[in-house]
Amino acid sequence: MNKELIRLKVNGEVHEVAVPPHKLLLDVLREDLGLTGAKRGCDDSSCGCCAVLVDSVAILSCVAIASCYQDAEIVTVEGIAPPGTLDPVQEGYALAGGAQCGYCTPGFLICTKALLARHPHPTLEEIRVALSSNLCRCTGYMQIYESVQLAIERAQAREAAKPAPVGR
Ligand code: FES
Ligand code: FES
Repeated sequence: MNKELIRLKVNGEVHEVAVPPHKLLLDVLREDLGLTGAKRGCDDSSCGCCAVLVDSVAILSCVAIASCYQDAEIVTVEGIAPPGTLDPVQEGYALAGGAQCGYCTPGFLICTKALLARHPHPTLEEIRVALSSNLCRCTGYMQIYESVQLAIERAQAREAAKPAPVGR
């Protein structure tokens, strides 16, 4: 099969890979770049397990053609915090029990990051709506919503702990 060389910026690193023209972003991430955080939970864009950030917006990588994202900043769950650290969203899910099966969790983390980037203080209803495309097959949605609320608190605490800017 013909292949084309594409260039993708993922988690801050530029990768060049030779792939068939219509290879899906999810498959390039998992098979060519070894980033297996995003999962294939369905094959019809109905579960949210494969979500990644593209320019801070969550997209479903199982229905995205990789070559269309060559100018974008792609972030997978592996890249939401610097190595060896946790993002407040990861802390929230770990501490409030939102990371239950591990399979759907990357998609929830990515969609939560996208939500809080555009709306740092969502209400419970806004959280529900924002995560309504992510399926939790074990139905532990309350722990997931509580995890998002804890993530908001953790992010606020980090902000408050930052030293005040020094005036001129
Ligand atoms: S694997 Fe992409 S939405 Fe289910
Ligand atoms: S936590 Fe993954 S299916 Fe419920």
